[in-house]
Parts: sequence; C-alpha cells; structure tokens
Amino acid sequence: MSDTAVSTLTNHQFRLASRPVGLPTRDNWSASTEAVAEPGDGGVVLQTLALSLDPAMRGWMNEGRSYIPPVGIGEVMRASGVGRVIASKSAHFAVGDMVSAGFGVQQYVRLGADEFKRNGMVKIDLRMGSLTQWLNVLGMPGMTGYFGLMDVGQPQSGETLVVSGAAGAVGQTVGQVAKIKGCRVVGIAGGKAKCDWVVKELGFDACIDYKAGPGAVREGLKEHCPKGVDIYFDNVGGEILDTVLARINRKARIIICGAISQYNATTAIAGPKNYLSLLVNRARMEGIVVFDYADRYHLAVLEMAGYLKDGRMKSKEDVVEGIEHFPEALLKLFNGENFGKLVLQVADQ
Ligand SMILES: NC(=O)c1ccc[n+]([C@@H]2O[C@H](COP(=O)([O-])OP(=O)(O)OC[C@H]3O[C@@H](n4cnc5c(N)ncnc54)[C@H](OP(=O)(O)O)[C@@H]3O)[C@@H](O)[C@H]2O)c1
Repeated sequence: MSDTAVSTLTNHQFRLASRPVGLPTRDNWSASTEAVAEPGDGGVVLQTLALSLDPAMRGWMNEGRSYIPPVGIGEVMRASGVGRVIASKSAHFAVGDMVSAGFGVQQYVRLGADEFKRNGMVKIDLRMGSLTQWLNVLGMPGMTGYFGLMDVGQPQSGETLVVSGAAGAVGQTVGQVAKIKGCRVVGIAGGKAKCDWVVKELGFDACIDYKAGPGAVREGLKEHCPKGVDIYFDNVGGEILDTVLARINRKARIIICGAISQYNATTAIAGPKNYLSLLVNRARMEGIVVFDYADRYHLAVLEMAGYLKDGRMKSKEDVVEGIEHFPEALLKLFNGENFGKLVLQVADQ
C-alpha cells in the first residue's frame, strides 16, 4: 500500500476510560477513531491482524507499580499482536513483512525508527508456525512456559510436574515441553472438556478438574502424583497453590508465573498459607517475567517450531473475531470460557 493510501485509513481503537474494581466492564473502555498518518523517516505503519488477549492486561489496568507501568487513563490499551507492514520508510522492514509487535488494541499503529526496539517489533516467519501460533506456543505465552519450565523448573526425566491453567496458553506449552523432557505431567484445569483434551490430545498423564467439587485437587494429587510433586508451574495462585504446596517433594521447584484467581480480587489477595512446606522440603519458589528472556526467545522458537513440525507439540487457539468484541472477549480469560490461547482477530490475513 502506498503512503497516500495509508493516510485515507481510519484507525478504530479501544482506550482505557477508567480503572476497574473487580472484573472490567464496558464502562472501563472508550472507543475512539483516528486518521492514520504516513510513516516518518525510518518508520513504519503496521496493520493489526490478530491481538493476544492476556490475563496480564487486567494488571495493566490498575494504578500502581509492577514490572511494567500501568496503562494511563485515555491511552490506547496495551496489547501485543501480529500484523503486517503496510507502509515503510525503514531500511529494515519492507511493506508486506509480517511482524510481532506491541500494537495496542487498535487496527493500525505507526512506529518511529527509535521505537522499534522498545516496542519489541520483530519479523516472524509463517513457515515456522501460523499467525495464531505466533501468539501462542511461538509467542509470549510459549516463551513464558518454556523459560519458566527450563530455567526455574529445571525438569529432570522421571520427575513429576503439575501445571495449573493446563489447557490455557502457557499451560499447554509447559505440559507438552515437560513431557518431551521426560516428566510425568499432571494438569489442573476447569471442566471435563479441558481435562480430556490435555490428556487425549496433548498426552498429559492425567488432569485434575478443579471444578469437580471440594477436595478434587487434593484427592487428584494423591491419586495422580503418588511420588509427590517435584515441579509445580503455578498459573493460578490461591487455594490451588496451597493444595499443591502440601504435596511437594524435597528440593521441589515452584514457578510463580501468575495468579489469575486473584487478579479481580476486591480485597487483599490471598497469599499461600502452606509456605512452610518450602522450609520442611528445602524447596524453592521463584517468580518469572517472560521479558527477561527476550534475548533467548529465538532459541526457544526454533526448538518449539521443530516440535510443532514433527508433531510432538500441538497448539490450540481460541479466536474471537472483530475488534469491537474486545471488552467481552477479554472477560473469557477470567471465567474460563477461553479454550486455548485467546486471540482477537482484527483483520483477515
Ligand atoms: N510471568 C509472566 O511473564 C507471564 C507471562 C504470561 C502469562 N502469565 C500468567 O500465566 C497465567 C496463564 O496465562 P495464559 O495467558 O496462559 O492464560 P490462559 O490459561 O490461556 O487463560 C486463563 C485461564 O485461567 C483459568 N482461570 C481463570 N480464573 C481462574 C480461577 N479463579 N482459578 C483457577 N483458574 C482460573 C481459566 O482456565 P480454567 O477453565 O482451567 O479455569 C482460564 O481459561 C496467568 O496467570 C498469566 O498472568 C505470566
């Protein structure tokens, strides 16, 4: 597309209108439109094709310090995604290149040359995986699962790994890579359909349906982890973390990846009650932030693209079509309606 054509486009966006208390509502968002400007010297204009909807977005809506600043009121909501270069004055990116970048919840984004690095814009190769796989196993959630497991979890063949949020984006990578590394893998997920899928399709050894009733996780761990738990990859926090802590082995590793059960809490978040199990078992609990591994993403991508190709790994995405559905689509993460990596398709490939 020529630069002149770019300047005829209208950009539909979602901006943060107010900070939510509890679950976000439509009122927390304002829809806006803007004209798209031509790229500046060395810059590009990108068209958003698909956005990654992530639990972390809920945290970015809050005031306060985190590993990344909050989204300001009135700003376009932060979101990473995949898309296409539609206008370029850059020597490094040509019209038609497919990229992964921080797009924001909008149809187009204009980036200056000095913003490429901070934005995290990189070319992606669709021969290695589909557009949506680049948001899943080959994208940020896949990198989180891979490096959290390999660097903090340090799996050894024959060990037992438990992963919560097992059918989600991070969980599916963790469980499949742990199987490839020779672990016994037990998932925890909400509902029979998700549990059946991780066992029958992904090859997990077992999956515990935490919604099956009180005591389901405790009983399930007893049944499916007869030798205890060596690695727990925690995506949910809360009561499930406490229940797993009661089953860990000596020198266990617990990866604190997220605590989605707490993200919409309107009172103080619940911390682990059973933390003394770490002392008794000489165990360790460590948080991870995926961005710390950015300089090694390419290695994990190569390895996992290989697994996708040789069939050892599968990847499931749950695609919602239309940027206008962003507010409701995001909520699927918090009520467990998403089955696989949640993706918002903004335009046809
Ligand atoms: N540290 C990092 O760098 C990093 C990077 C990416 C993601 N994360 C974290 O990793 C976790 C998973 O993220 P994801 O993108 O892979 O999301 P996801 O698992 O694809 O989707 C979220 C899932 O969380 C589960 N869930 C929601 N509320 C829950 C609750 N109250 N109790 C238990 N489970 C609940 C639901 O599955 P069920 O149907 O099974 O309940 C839902 O489908 C999140 O905590 C996220 O913040 C961290």
